[in-house]
Amino acid sequence: MIADPAAMSAWSEAARAQGEHVALVPTMGALHKGHLSLLAEARHRAQRVVLSIFVNPMQFGPQEDLAKYPRDLAGDLAKAASVGCDLAFVPEAASMYGPGFQTAIDVREVSQGLCGARRPGHFVGVATVVCKFFNIVRPHVAFFGEKDFQQLAVIRRMVTDLNLPVEIIGLPTVREPDGLALSSRNAYLAPPDRQRAAALHAGLSAAKTLAEKGECRASVLLEVATTEIVGRVERIDYLEIRAADDLKPLETIDRPAVMLVAAFVGRTRLIDNLRIG
Ligand code: PAJ
Repeated sequence: MIADPAAMSAWSEAARAQGEHVALVPTMGALHKGHLSLLAEARHRAQRVVLSIFVNPMQFGPQEDLAKYPRDLAGDLAKAASVGCDLAFVPEAASMYGPGFQTAIDVREVSQGLCGARRPGHFVGVATVVCKFFNIVRPHVAFFGEKDFQQLAVIRRMVTDLNLPVEIIGLPTVREPDGLALSSRNAYLAPPDRQRAAALHAGLSAAKTLAEKGECRASVLLEVATTEIVGRVERIDYLEIRAADDLKPLETIDRPAVMLVAAFVGRTRLIDNLRIG
């Protein structure tokens, strides 16, 4: 494990000097099988696999769960080792955001709406910290989950716009048998809430099935998903259909699309998405 950013860069430079490819999997820890799927794919694609664990204060709003976000460093290191991860980079907040820190990356359009509307400043925090990780670790390739679809779009846009020399690979969402997307925040769910949480995927799947039968009106697909979800969750935060590449709103599914949902189950806010059409 390395905590010091300069030591992390030196490790990576040494690997690069030997002609090795370095992969990075950025996380906030509390690792589950979704995170491990990213590490396992990284293991296939690069000689060196670095996992970063950092609960990034910059991406949490003042009312959000920064203080209670689940942390399990010992467990995380054991899980990471079990899938062949070479190194965990676990910096302190003080070494990431030193005195006088004042720079932020704003990926303007892709960050708008969806989680961006509900969590002001969230994607600025994500883009900034991921850019810092790219500069510290200098990976050839970095892995992200489609579970956080808007986040992945933000990072792809940032990498293109800023000419960052890293390949971004997005991987499919790993789910529980009932369809619930694995998430560190699922740990907050009490057992009855855990059961109801499957409603999100059920709603998205119902819409996908209808789209596969030829329905291409977004309004109809959204209605089907809403019917499935409403009543099983406390509140739907958003439910939308967007273009899969640039996340522009769609009324008709005439190109690859994604349905995205955020909802409160109990007091826990969960997100999910499914490609349709
Ligand atoms: P975190 O929520 O820990 O997620 C780390 C990575 O794991 C992200 O790329 C996320 O999309 C992916 N992931 C989460 N659940 C998944 C699942 N069920 N299946 C597949 N992949 C999954 O996302 C973050 O951390 C942070 O915002 C971060 C990018 C690290 C920046 O701080």
